Amino acid sequence: MIATIIPDMRDHYPVLLSEIISIIKPQYGGTFIDCTFGQGGYTKRILNFEKTNVIALDRDIESIKKAEEIHNRFEDRFLFKNMKFSELTNLKLKDENVKGVIFDLGYSYTQIKDPKKGLSFETIGELNMKMGINNFSAKEVINILDEKELAQIFKYFGDEKDSNRIAHNIVEDRTTREITTEELVRIIVSSKRKKNQKTHSATKVFQALRIFVNKEISELIYGLINAAKIVKKDGVIAVVTFHSLEDKIVKYFFKSLSENKSVSRYMPKIGEKINLFKSISKKPIVPSEKEIEENPQSRSAKLRYVIKKEDFYNFETDILEKFNHLIKIENFSKKLWRK
Ligand SMILES: C[S@@+](CC[C@H](N)C(=O)[O-])C[C@H]1O[C@@H](n2cnc3c(N)ncnc32)[C@H](O)[C@@H]1O
Repeated sequence: MIATIIPDMRDHYPVLLSEIISIIKPQYGGTFIDCTFGQGGYTKRILNFEKTNVIALDRDIESIKKAEEIHNRFEDRFLFKNMKFSELTNLKLKDENVKGVIFDLGYSYTQIKDPKKGLSFETIGELNMKMGINNFSAKEVINILDEKELAQIFKYFGDEKDSNRIAHNIVEDRTTREITTEELVRIIVSSKRKKNQKTHSATKVFQALRIFVNKEISELIYGLINAAKIVKKDGVIAVVTFHSLEDKIVKYFFKSLSENKSVSRYMPKIGEKINLFKSISKKPIVPSEKEIEENPQSRSAKLRYVIKKEDFYNFETDILEKFNHLIKIENFSKKLWRK
């Protein structure tokens, strides 16, 4: 039987909402792409400004319920697509004046409290972790990948110090029983050499598995590259991250785009190098003490943004090479893809 022991049943709370609004400036109108619609917290606030349009994406089909509610109110100015943000350039955006592309990464409170999704180690039942539009679940990862592959996932996606011991014990245990969420938590707890007083022992492995199952690294990298293509001059790309790996990728991409780069416009001047984006601050914006008090989930949020300085579509970036070691780990999943 599947049951949840998460006690708090309140709704999702949009993180850093007023900060996002003051950065993207919807009062001046334009089209905004909400790449992580979720419960529609950002979208609703943007649509309250009259001259705006919102195209919202979410890989989780369950977001459609909220999307329909919003569509009933803002029929002409709102469009929802059940798709992954790595495919942003598949949107037909020919004449759209895209003034902002916003990412609020991770999962919503509504998703984490859904026992079917199995995103939390507090959820009792089958290992799943699929956010939507996936090829495999955490159950297949844990029961099929080999010890070395599991250890690398835990180490690189979760920064887990005891990754080798945990992977070894999983592979040993799975010969005698199926590994459920409860069983995995038990293996992790018994494999840890030192207990962390602040966080649950299973936090890092669960983060790593969620990143792997949802291919969050390549999603983020392709999402950023495509956002940089479609946003118009003076438009903003804003990203809220929740862990250091995501923040590292966003920070690197924004920093590298704010340096002089070669671009190819419709009629590029050969070898031309220009400053593509402007980064306003090196430091990320973080939630106020008041927000953290009202919504403790927001405590690890970091908001970074850049403003596009020139209209261009193609540009040079080395982000794929820079994080290739992580993409290679995500590619262990090739052996799990359903035919
Ligand atoms: C933190 S929630 C967003 C909450 C939203 N800002 C709000 O205020 O309601 C993140 C959402 O992004 C979605 N998501 C995560 N990765 C995605 C991806 N690669 N493509 C599309 N949606 C994604 C999740 O399904 C989830 O609904």
